[in-house]
Amino acid sequence: MKNKILKTYEKIAQSYHKMIDYKPHNAFYDRPNTLSLFPENIKDFEILDAACGPGKYAEILLSQGAHITGFDFSPKMVDLAKKRNSNHQENFFVHNLNDPLDLFNDQKFDIVLCALALDYIQDWHAVMGEFNRVLKPNGRLIISTTHPFFDHLYFKSKKYFKPQAVSTNWTSFGKGVKMHSFKRSLHDTIAPITENGFYIEKFLEPKPTVEMKKSDPKTYKKLMNFPSFLCIKALKYS
Ligand SMILES: C[S@@+](CC[C@H](N)C(=O)[O-])C[C@H]1O[C@@H](n2cnc3c(N)ncnc32)[C@H](O)[C@@H]1O
Repeated sequence: MKNKILKTYEKIAQSYHKMIDYKPHNAFYDRPNTLSLFPENIKDFEILDAACGPGKYAEILLSQGAHITGFDFSPKMVDLAKKRNSNHQENFFVHNLNDPLDLFNDQKFDIVLCALALDYIQDWHAVMGEFNRVLKPNGRLIISTTHPFFDHLYFKSKKYFKPQAVSTNWTSFGKGVKMHSFKRSLHDTIAPITENGFYIEKFLEPKPTVEMKKSDPKTYKKLMNFPSFLCIKALKYS
């Protein structure tokens, strides 16, 4: 499964990079909502961008004065993140979220961000434990992921509670590709966070910004009536 996901991301990396600035689901839905969970002033904050993709979040957070370390398991994505953030190339690494974050000391980061990547991880317990370890006391975890209710309906599942490997065809990146991921219940989304030393501070069922109304009115209408993603900010307490 991991290899299938990696192969697909390697295939679409270049077009993902080209589209990320304005692709409606990213630019007008995920990013504004996820970024709303960050403190107003992040100057000199140490931020880990886990599964950074082509480095769009890193670019935004760097422009606000934060220090960013990013990793992704796709070498192509990491190259694109380096290209986009060319003055900070040494801060981007190839690493798999399923593996321990051995490259980082305990309590290194003020914030760990993981946007739209946990869908590709079967069981979140190990990764949440590692996010907790690398965060400073009172550090924050900020994530976005597919809303479990969206997946349940989209994949016409009859077994809401059963974690399940799923796949769908993505056509919006030029060549059509089959994308594999894992669907899970709301409980299996929340419990790995709260059972690994975090309090949930904020939980968003995001709505798109008005810009999407112009660029993609059909999706705007859908997302104003039912969420595709959810965003969480959690505080490390132990
Ligand atoms: C939808 S993209 C999101 C990229 C970026 N976080 C953003 O929001 O712009 C998902 C990213 O997760 C990465 N990814 C998926 N599974 C991963 C894993 N097991 N370890 C590290 N990265 C992974 C993919 O290569 C891809 O870059």
